[in-house]
Amino acid sequence: MENKYISLVRDNIKNLKPYSSARHEFSGHADIFLDANENPNDHHIYNRYPDPLQTRLKRKISAVKGVKEESIFLGNGSDEAIDILFRIFCEPGKDSVISIEPSYGMYRVAADINNVKIKNVSLTPDFELDVDAILAVEEKSDKILWLCSPNNPSGNTLNPQMILELLDKFPGMIVVDEAYIDFSNEVSMKSFVPERQNLIILQTFSKAWGLAGLRIGMAFAQQWIIEIMNAVKPPYNINSYSQDFVLNQLRKIDDVRKEISKIKQERGRVIERLEELDIVEKIYPSEANFLLIKCKDARNVFKSLQEKGVIVRDRSNVPLCEGCLRVTIGTERENEVFLKEMKILDKQ
Ligand SMILES: Cc1ncc(COP(=O)(O)O)c(C=O)c1O
Repeated sequence: MENKYISLVRDNIKNLKPYSSARHEFSGHADIFLDANENPNDHHIYNRYPDPLQTRLKRKISAVKGVKEESIFLGNGSDEAIDILFRIFCEPGKDSVISIEPSYGMYRVAADINNVKIKNVSLTPDFELDVDAILAVEEKSDKILWLCSPNNPSGNTLNPQMILELLDKFPGMIVVDEAYIDFSNEVSMKSFVPERQNLIILQTFSKAWGLAGLRIGMAFAQQWIIEIMNAVKPPYNINSYSQDFVLNQLRKIDDVRKEISKIKQERGRVIERLEELDIVEKIYPSEANFLLIKCKDARNVFKSLQEKGVIVRDRSNVPLCEGCLRVTIGTERENEVFLKEMKILDKQ
């Protein structure tokens, strides 16, 4: 199949001769490794560099996620994948990207770091995609469209039919950031990767999998994109400890599923309790592990909670989120403390 999207890749990246690490070039059997200037004394194998292409871990992810190994990229958090995609497709000072608004703040930060113009297209007031508005602002310099589903901070999933329409009509690459997909009843768009050359899905071990501290994010895309991402990433971007720990966590998928279902159950309970309060004006439907809550005098609620040691995210200055706080679903005990403080504020 002809690939018209390869022309979107920056020329310096197309011509890049990637760093070839010692472990990269060797695939036979050997007992003595004097090739990488490591300390030869065993420190729980951490004296050795990690597998640069994370082969064992990807094999397991492939089995769990139903995505081919060659379609998987692993980054130091999805934040690394976001930055790498800017560096692959966007010429600093020249190219641009489109992002929905409101959405995850790192798309803008990564654009600014890479000196790439970002054009924000507002979602509708109920946080749905406005396909026509996106296509109306689209121009030749737009290399990437950033979508997020379930979206942060609104919590809703975007309409998959509209995403498919954009995949047909938007001439650049489309990233669908699915960091919160495991909390959603909607299915992942990852099944469209084999048939869509311009689709990149981001997922992460930081949310439902409970491993934010290890920093491992995933990108699923066609092999040509994954190969370029691997060429651009630092050779040893995922450390050995994280690779092993995540591999082990993937074997405990039943426990992870139980945690997810407990968090979803708590989400329902927190909504019910918040609905009883007068200071709560609206709770937006959530397919994620957080709620966007419109409050009377949100800034004051935010500050009062903070004084009681309950930290939530003030989103009241974000477009379409005026008067809103974003609150993560915690453990039952944490949620109880939050609800108790909200009730106190409600009575004041
Ligand atoms: C939508 C979205 N994408 C990506 C991330 C970052 O994920 P990671 O921890 O894998 O870098 C976050 C974190 O809050 C997020 O909300």
